Amino acid sequence: MKSIKVGLLGIGTVGAGTFNVLKRNQEEIARRAGRSIEIVMVADLDVARAKEVTGGTCEVVSDGNLVVANPDVDVVIELIGGYGVAKDLVLKAIANGKHIVTANKALLAAHGDEIFKAAQEKSVMVAYEAAVAGGIPIIKALREGLTANRIEWIAGIINGTTNFILSEMRDKGLDFDTVLKEAQRLGYAEADPTFDIEGVDAAHKATLMSAIAFGIPVQFDKAHIEGITKLEAVDIRYAEQLGYRIKLLGIAKRTPKGIELRVHPTLIPSKRLIANVEGPMNAVLVQGDAVGATLYYGKGAGSEPTASAVIADLVDIARLAEAAPEHRVPYLAFQPNAMTDTPILPI
Ligand code: HSE
Repeated sequence: MKSIKVGLLGIGTVGAGTFNVLKRNQEEIARRAGRSIEIVMVADLDVARAKEVTGGTCEVVSDGNLVVANPDVDVVIELIGGYGVAKDLVLKAIANGKHIVTANKALLAAHGDEIFKAAQEKSVMVAYEAAVAGGIPIIKALREGLTANRIEWIAGIINGTTNFILSEMRDKGLDFDTVLKEAQRLGYAEADPTFDIEGVDAAHKATLMSAIAFGIPVQFDKAHIEGITKLEAVDIRYAEQLGYRIKLLGIAKRTPKGIELRVHPTLIPSKRLIANVEGPMNAVLVQGDAVGATLYYGKGAGSEPTASAVIADLVDIARLAEAAPEHRVPYLAFQPNAMTDTPILPI
């Protein structure tokens, strides 16, 4: 089978990780995908850096429009982030019949239904494992592994930056700003770190999980969002003395009246597994009616952990790209046959 050709939009932290892991594990990945995966074009505003990362192995341009219009490209990986240029390029790529892999939770939480509608019309796949909880395959678990279940609730530490900040403040007594700078240096934080510390990033991810778990449209605008900026070192210390840890949780919960969708700092008894998730790690608890409680743990941010999820999506697309459209169903909607009448409850 001929190789699948990939165009990459943005070669920052995650893009470079994707490039490196694809290269390092090339043979295994090709065997698993049933064909080789080849990055043929990269667009990044920093052309010099992009050339350095790719080392002359593919064409490098500064204009993403050239990637989405390139007839040789089968799949576009969008790693630009945000709503503006990213949305425009993703919709253009779909219109040109390209499959999409994206880590852009902000884009999907705000415009996911529109993007999937466009994708369905063209029968192209949209995959977004990297958008939630970095390297943890939580999208696949919710959508496929737990598909027999009526999901009752999801609660997770789904922002690595804030978990890193809370851990470092507690363990090392460091102040908020110092740790935030370190999280930025390590590539955990968003381009606009207020999305991390104000809970917006976690709310994007909780919104996406709620759409899969409950089969509802994405409703980010109805989420209750509270970040960690009002917390002080003394709050963390007092919580500790009382036998609790403070964690920023993203929660999506089914109730008889509708869905609760919320992000806020939460006191968790120190003995609980999830209270001991430290640093940039993520953990997601999912309660299903058949399976009971399940817990998913791993690196929620950073270059190669997120690249791991991006490449898993690429492999799925490589396997399915020549299959009949009905086999592509998991990648044509958050959840097939979504219900439109389930309200998100005001908090
Ligand atoms: N800024 C995000 C985080 C990156 O800290 O979790 C991964 O989505």
